[in-house]
Amino acid sequence: MATIDLTRRTMLAGTAVGLTLSPGLVRAATKARRALPKGFLWGAATAGHQVEGDNINSDTWLFEQVKPTLFSEPSGSACDSYHRYGEDMDIARNIGFNCYRFGVEWARIEPARGEFSNAALDHYERMIDACHKRGLAPVLTYSHFTTPRWFAAMGGFEVGDSVDLFARFCERVTNAFGDRIALAATFNEPNVVYHIRSIPEFKMVAALAEAMKSAAARASGSDRFSSTVFTDPALFETNMIAAHKAGYQAIKAGPGDFPVGVTLAMTDEQGVGAGHLAAQMERERYDAWLKAAGESDFVGVQTYTRNLVGPSGNLPVPAASEKTQMGYEFYPPAVGGAIRYAARVSGKPVYVTENGVATEDDNRRIAYIDGALAEVRKCLDDGIDVRGYIHWSLLDNFEWNFGYRPKFGLVSVDRTTFKRTVKPSALHLGKYAKTNRI
Ligand code: GAL
Repeated sequence: MATIDLTRRTMLAGTAVGLTLSPGLVRAATKARRALPKGFLWGAATAGHQVEGDNINSDTWLFEQVKPTLFSEPSGSACDSYHRYGEDMDIARNIGFNCYRFGVEWARIEPARGEFSNAALDHYERMIDACHKRGLAPVLTYSHFTTPRWFAAMGGFEVGDSVDLFARFCERVTNAFGDRIALAATFNEPNVVYHIRSIPEFKMVAALAEAMKSAAARASGSDRFSSTVFTDPALFETNMIAAHKAGYQAIKAGPGDFPVGVTLAMTDEQGVGAGHLAAQMERERYDAWLKAAGESDFVGVQTYTRNLVGPSGNLPVPAASEKTQMGYEFYPPAVGGAIRYAARVSGKPVYVTENGVATEDDNRRIAYIDGALAEVRKCLDDGIDVRGYIHWSLLDNFEWNFGYRPKFGLVSVDRTTFKRTVKPSALHLGKYAKTNRI
């Protein structure tokens, strides 16, 4: 957390990222880059539901189908990565990455309670092997927002059973191919709900979210339908932290010996003015989960922007600031503040497991990458144990309730033919990755 003079910082950030350099200067700047620790992970991330397509047994698929819904469009076939993962990994390798972050879909692996699909487990095992074949370390997410539909209809993490059910799922997955996983997170952003509930628009859509959950419950013949994204965290956080711990134990007890942690949704909380509440915001949004990460092996930092906090709470994005397609402030240095806070409170090594920007203008993605990596460099220079930078996302994909409009990808995907086209920003990030220098 930092207290800032808003005008000055915003102007400085704008200058740093908006600069146009001559090719000679770019060459000089590249030369000036310094080596990173050996084994530093460079990669891009995806999540099953957002790229695979046809994840029909998941809670989110149902949310997309019911009326009313918060989703602007259904995920449908997404990027068809369920079938095209080899092509995606070829691209990741050719960019110059040494890892690939992806998720397994619980809804495919356990489509009905207690019924495990060997075919789905085989599929993900093939993905793990396909990573290794290309020299990509597989970075696995056990649960990336989605749960099986039956699990949500049972009450999800609001009910005590969820802890053992999640641990059993972790055990099955680990038994199948844990000996070949490089790094894994139990949950992706289990704290994202705090961010969602604090945006001003949430108040307007809260009733719609409840109506969507009721419709999903009715469609499932249940009186409930839980979601960690659309439910008050007071109802599920204790169980979910217990599930993380039980999942961690289950994974550690299985084959393989790889670091296991949890990834968190983090903005850089910056206080504005006397009596600002930035420290309180940090405690509320992060500390319970950073403590849980502290009892695991690492913390995954996932940062897209900063959050300005005044004496009475969050402030709007400054009117003069550039905004991304998500409406976030374009603010690449944010990742630095998040890394510092996560490292300090958890006491564990940090991997940046997501960082990126939604934009149609790939030059702005390039500027964003440069700005963010400069902060990673500073963190390393300050002795913080940062061990990887994984960009969100490899592909333009299904951005949850926003549908396919926001473009986070280093690679675009034709919505009809699924043809992938590598963007210049991918090659730009690849230069850092190939040289392992910032
Ligand atoms: C994260 C999430 C990703 C992706 C990204 C971009 O919160 O883990 O799945 O959607 O944001 O908004």
